[in-house]
Amino acid sequence: MQTLAIIKPDAVGAGKTGQVLSVLEQKGFKVRAARLVRLSRVEAEAFYEVHRERPFYAPLVAFMTSGPCLTMVLEHPDAVAYLRDVIGATDPAQAAPGTVRRLYAESKERNAIHASDSPENAVREVAFFFPEAELRKLDG
Ligand code: CMP
Repeated sequence: MQTLAIIKPDAVGAGKTGQVLSVLEQKGFKVRAARLVRLSRVEAEAFYEVHRERPFYAPLVAFMTSGPCLTMVLEHPDAVAYLRDVIGATDPAQAAPGTVRRLYAESKERNAIHASDSPENAVREVAFFFPEAELRKLDG
């Protein structure tokens, strides 16, 4: 099973990319694809379309386009739910010890990492960043 993770511009800019990846690998995820991207405003708006009506939408788009981020396809038998556990709560102050956000996030807005929140969204989000046909052959 695959899910999408994004190491966000705060963590990449702080030089924490390798440390975040190290946690993910130690937790048992396999990195099946990775690409460093600087999202355009149009891409960030489309990716976070589901949040368009939320008050944090505009600042979220501004933050996600503020610098490069590392998009990744991660594989694990329970990839979606398990990655949500490993990254921790949206707000790092609420995130459990040892989670990526507790370790590396600055705030609820600048929270180091994104992970797909359902199997359906994982399929959509993986295809959003990695539409390549070869990737589908890696699954299973
Ligand atoms: P992410 O998992 O990428 O999905 C939506 C993002 O919106 C979330 O992480 C946060 O970075 C951001 N966000 C900012 N403010 C809030 C908020 N009040 N509630 C939820 N998400 C927020």
